[in-house]
Amino acid sequence: MRAARYYARHDIRIEDIAEPVLLPGTVMVQVAWCGICGTDLHEYLDGPIFVPAHGHPQPISHEDAPVTLGHEFSGTITAVGDGVTALHVGENVVIEPYIIGPGVDTGPGHEYQLSPDMNFIGLGGRGGGLSEKVVVEQRWVHPIGDIPLDAAALIEPLAVGHHAWVRSGAVAGDTAVVGGAGPIGLLLAAVLKAQGITVIVSEVSEARKAIAVRTGVADHVLDPTLVDVGAEVRKLTEGRGADVGFECSSVDAVLDMLLETVKPAGVVVNVSIWGHRPAVDMQKLVLKEIDLRGTIAYANDHPATIKLVQDGKVRLEPFITGRIDLGDLIRDGFDALIEHKDTEVKILVHP
Ligand SMILES: NC(=O)c1ccc[n+]([C@@H]2O[C@H](COP(=O)([O-])OP(=O)(O)OC[C@H]3O[C@@H](n4cnc5c(N)ncnc54)[C@H](O)[C@@H]3O)[C@@H](O)[C@H]2O)c1
Ligand SMILES: [Zn+2]
Repeated sequence: MRAARYYARHDIRIEDIAEPVLLPGTVMVQVAWCGICGTDLHEYLDGPIFVPAHGHPQPISHEDAPVTLGHEFSGTITAVGDGVTALHVGENVVIEPYIIGPGVDTGPGHEYQLSPDMNFIGLGGRGGGLSEKVVVEQRWVHPIGDIPLDAAALIEPLAVGHHAWVRSGAVAGDTAVVGGAGPIGLLLAAVLKAQGITVIVSEVSEARKAIAVRTGVADHVLDPTLVDVGAEVRKLTEGRGADVGFECSSVDAVLDMLLETVKPAGVVVNVSIWGHRPAVDMQKLVLKEIDLRGTIAYANDHPATIKLVQDGKVRLEPFITGRIDLGDLIRDGFDALIEHKDTEVKILVHP
């Protein structure tokens, strides 16, 4: 079968590899669509990061590069292994793409995203969505009912937004500032809107400001090159400041702006992965007793995330900006995203 294999930085190859083998407790999924994520771009340009470099096997998957890429994917079950009773051939599903140690409890309430050596299918081994077929442990397979398979490929990054919202503790009626309207900021904004939270997006790119407006995920869009975001947020909140802020840009000035715009005793959730150590005015955090929180991926967020889409509270189709064949992955996927990043949101790949 065809698969996109990560060898090293700037070296991703479309190859013919053996089909994965069905094992007890696993299902075989024929991949329908797989999204390209900013993390995949980081691996391509600056990696390996999550990918285990050649000669350095991942402690849980025991695999090293080359590995198959793709962690944002949907598909149809084509076979179920012994002991699998709750999933059926022909069912459409998405994958919660975790590689988690064997002894870790992944049940409700357990924070398995924080377990040692956690990694992701499609980065740390165990196949990936940028191939025709994947075999996945039943625990990580979530049925999607009649959600279209293309939209369903965005459920993984939507679950990132869902978990960021859970971490924030924001409730209906609150006001949130989202700093950066890339795919993550936009999908997070969609989750927040669905919870009845007022969303103020701060973004510098014309194209992305337009997407935030067009998709209806922002109540207000502010551009820090044109207005004083802090002053505008205070105006919009009768002087109180926002209840929560979300950093989704990996830009120091955005984190600083959030410390400035949230209310005293407000919450700032850092969603970004940082390639550098940000410099911010910590005095704002101290004097306002701000809670600065991290968030990584998701933990038992998939069922609620899928329900948001099923109930029509989040529409994912408007965020799909391209569909390509696996054979065109580098030119029409990676290079297109690198060169025209701000006009694209999610490019889907059909393997
Ligand atoms: N925590 C997690 O589990 C998790 C999961 C996935 C992605 N991420 C991270 O989330 C971050 C966002 O991902 P993405 O794919 O949306 O990234 P992206 O780079 O596409 O989006 C960042 C956005 O910030 C905007 N921006 C830049 N400077 C700004 C400024 N001064 N003010 C306002 N906006 C500004 C950019 O124009 C861009 O639209 C990345 O760091 C990514 O690695 C985290
Ligand atoms: Zn991703």
